[in-house]
Amino acid sequence: MSATVTLTTDELLTTTRAVRKRLDFERPVPMAVIRECLEIALQAPTGSNAQGWHWMVVTDADKRLALAELYRKAWAVYPSMPASAHQVHAGDDAMTQIQEKVVSSAEYLAENMEKVPVLLIPCISGRVEGIPAPMGVVAQASTYGSVLPAAWNFMLAARSRGLGTAWTTLHLMHEEEAAKILGIPYAEITQCAMIAVAYSKGTTFKAAPRKPLEPILHVNAW
Ligand SMILES: Cc1cc2nc3c(=O)[nH]c(=O)nc-3n(C[C@H](O)[C@H](O)[C@H](O)COP(=O)(O)O)c2cc1C
Repeated sequence: MSATVTLTTDELLTTTRAVRKRLDFERPVPMAVIRECLEIALQAPTGSNAQGWHWMVVTDADKRLALAELYRKAWAVYPSMPASAHQVHAGDDAMTQIQEKVVSSAEYLAENMEKVPVLLIPCISGRVEGIPAPMGVVAQASTYGSVLPAAWNFMLAARSRGLGTAWTTLHLMHEEEAAKILGIPYAEITQCAMIAVAYSKGTTFKAAPRKPLEPILHVNAW
């Protein structure tokens, strides 16, 4: 099996979007395709070459429903959080329409999470939330940084095979409950995301409108 969507590297990197409303819930995703994307993901870097990652692939309908219910419990409180898509660009008129789309799309995913055929939870060995600074900062950057690049590479590999993906994190508000559902040893293993994976309805996606580089580029000094 190999890539089915032909894109240049730059096209792949600029059009891998958060796909929610265009996820095809009806089309099964062969495990062989997931494995192929994960094999590619494993080429990503890890701190000290530790490769402490684990990949939880959830296809079981009852477990997907249980995770979706946890996700919705988190989604119910998310709008009141200052970092939410609802609030993060408050007062920035240029962002209003974009954020309304993000919220509407995210709401659709929250309502339909159990229908997503594959939920992928990238995990990493160790827990870092209790370690004080400065070592805690190094530990957090190294721990999450040793699995998130691979997770993104999974999403790129998935896109080039006609799959759409959406990165989510809200279920982590109930990480320990999710660990119980899936038998993940919570004390030793950190879950880092829950990636929705399905074939996309159509494979043409555009580059996203982003804020300009200029105000956030710092050369040699802040
Ligand atoms: C760290 C992180 C956490 C995210 N958490 C969620 C989430 O819990 N639920 C969700 O629907 N989308 C989530 N997203 C997706 C973002 O909303 C999405 O990447 C952003 O709106 C940009 O989408 P675009 O590339 O399609 O423009 C998350 C993305 C990242 C990188």
